[in-house]
Amino acid sequence: MTTLDVGIARLRSAAVHVSDGWTRFNRTFKSFMPKGLYARSLLIIIAPMVILQSVVAFVFMERHWNLVTQNLSAAVVQDIAALADMVKTFPQDADHKDVKRIAQDRLGLVIDFLPISDMPPPGPKPFFSLLDQALSVEVRKQIGRPFWIDTVGRSNLVEIRIQLDNSVLRVFAKRSAAYASNSEIFLLWMVGTSLVLLTVAILFLRNQIRPILSLADAAESFGKGREAPNFRPRGAREVRRAAQAFLEMKIRIERALEQRTAMLAGVSHDLRTMLTRFKLELALLGDGPEVEALKKDTDEMNAMLEAYLAFARGDSGEQSAPTDMAVFLDELKTDAERHGHNASVTFHGYPIVTVRSAAFKRCLGNLVSNAARFADSINITGHRDHRWLTVTVDDDGPGIPQSMREEVFKPFLRLDDARNQDEGGTGLGLAIARDIARSHGGDIMLGDSPMGGLRATVRVPV
Ligand SMILES: Nc1ncnc2c1ncn2[C@@H]1O[C@H](COP(=O)(O)OP(=O)(O)OP(=O)(O)O)[C@@H](O)[C@H]1O
Ligand SMILES: [Mg+2]
Repeated sequence: MTTLDVGIARLRSAAVHVSDGWTRFNRTFKSFMPKGLYARSLLIIIAPMVILQSVVAFVFMERHWNLVTQNLSAAVVQDIAALADMVKTFPQDADHKDVKRIAQDRLGLVIDFLPISDMPPPGPKPFFSLLDQALSVEVRKQIGRPFWIDTVGRSNLVEIRIQLDNSVLRVFAKRSAAYASNSEIFLLWMVGTSLVLLTVAILFLRNQIRPILSLADAAESFGKGREAPNFRPRGAREVRRAAQAFLEMKIRIERALEQRTAMLAGVSHDLRTMLTRFKLELALLGDGPEVEALKKDTDEMNAMLEAYLAFARGDSGEQSAPTDMAVFLDELKTDAERHGHNASVTFHGYPIVTVRSAAFKRCLGNLVSNAARFADSINITGHRDHRWLTVTVDDDGPGIPQSMREEVFKPFLRLDDARNQDEGGTGLGLAIARDIARSHGGDIMLGDSPMGGLRATVRVPV
């Protein structure tokens, strides 16, 4: 291996490491992110807003607010320092009347002289007070004498006591003179406006997302073979386009289905006419073993065509409606019992399910009649949870071998040719049943029944 090869191999393994790490990071990141479009778009709006505001607020607090407060405090402390100097320089003014007057009139400060014993010990500092800090720094810097500050005791006054040589100078200054107090209002405005904006954004966003949800609902109910009567394209252009495309697709699918059913029905119908002619001609031929066989075949063909026509005719135009499944299954059981079978029914869950009831009855009826044909005991179980309605039909008959369980769904395929010639149906039953289950968005599966025979399971979304 050359050094170049080694280098390339290293690079490659590094790239693999990086891409692994990236995948892992991506997965973790995704697991934290909200899943819904609504939450995601809100996050996309909120996150930048919060970050921007935090940065702005921080910079503002840090720079502007601090600076202004510092400057204001410095000015107040300057005045106080000047007063203290005046007191010291002009001791002839015994009760400091002039100093008090000048302070009051010119500087807006109310001052007093207290006995030296009135100097309180330094109290606990308020935890986060810009003003306290700024004032303390300035007093220390400009006056350099023991002092005591109370910025919280009175709401709009600040009390400062400074120990002079033989008295204590007490100063009441207006809080607003020392503190950039309207800065909080700025923050309040900022938060307030962003809350209002956020509310507006949420309202608008909800309106944008609603059409997407209704498109999803419409697609879902189309998948379940139901109509979505109130659906129409709404919302943003892209969503409307998707909705329009969905509607067109739905119409095309429906038209294609209809056309195929109509064509097959037409063919069957024409064949039936010919078959009738055929039968007449057979009748004219007289009797004989060949003629008997032909007659039997034509009868069978006739039955097949009738079955198909009945299906094609019955399929069209039925609307989904809420149906009580418990009652529905009970009727099936009664039908089975009428033909002298042992049947039992159980149902779990909330029984009202939206289906096309005549079609669904044909579907289940077929499974039950199959079971009735091959077995003595039939057990029908219904179960409904929040997503699916599951109906199982169990019997104790011969069952269907594993390898044939998909085959039997093919139209006109019958296994009982060998088993029982005369009793056989047309072989269309399971095909029709599956067609109906699928048009409801579900399916039929065949399996082994604990009763020994076949278990047919129909599952449709609710
Ligand atoms: N419960 C069952 N036990 C054993 N075999 C079954 C059972 N159900 C169906 N089969 C087999 O599957 C084949 C197809 O059934 P399918 O219902 O499609 O047709 P069919 O019952 O023969 O006719 P049709 O239902 O149209 O009257 C049947 O011919 C039969 O051989
Ligand atoms: Mg059948």
